Amino acid sequence: MRIEKLVLATHNAGKVAEMSDLLAPYGIEVLSAKDFDLDAPEETENTFEGNAFIKARFVAKETGLPALADDSGLCVNTLKGEPGVYSADWAGPEKDFGKAMILVNDKMGQCPDRSAYFISVFAFVLPDGREMVFEGRCDGSLIWPPRGAGGFGYDPMFVPKGEGRSFGEMDMSEKKKYSHRAKAFAEFRKIFE
Ligand code: IMP
Repeated sequence: MRIEKLVLATHNAGKVAEMSDLLAPYGIEVLSAKDFDLDAPEETENTFEGNAFIKARFVAKETGLPALADDSGLCVNTLKGEPGVYSADWAGPEKDFGKAMILVNDKMGQCPDRSAYFISVFAFVLPDGREMVFEGRCDGSLIWPPRGAGGFGYDPMFVPKGEGRSFGEMDMSEKKKYSHRAKAFAEFRKIFE
């Protein structure tokens, strides 16, 4: 498949940066929902896939262009997968991820199982109605206190499996070796091959 333009269905600057970087080698003009002054639709589903399609369908319809949405989140095993699809909500309306990380750590208490994983689901919607879905997962563990000022969201408290550093201590190219989003992208990019 060949596409010339694509709109990222997100207002999250961290996601725009990572997804633009992943798309850079493909010669596609990458725009985002912000470039069209679009509001973010309400994410009313309780699955990553459901919410990813809400965002991608909305942006494809509003712009008439191919739209790519990522719905992602942190799932903590000892919290039965929470915060999961509610990962952004735990930061409150002020999007305070320092507060969200404290909440996660407090809820885990003294539990020795610190394992967690990030999930990223990409929904790709074309103006002609075709729809595709791709998924990536990154396993790791949660540290306290958080470390590093890089990345976004829960990055400073997440150490991917096989690493000693948190995502917050890595630059974008290092994070890309492990990240759930890069893995979902590795599936997505096959449509260009
Ligand atoms: P949504 O997909 O926009 O509903 O929100 C996903 C939320 O999950 C983000 O706001 C972050 O809090 C968290 N999240 C997703 N991916 C990452 C990541 O790569 N690093 C850190 N936090 C992430």
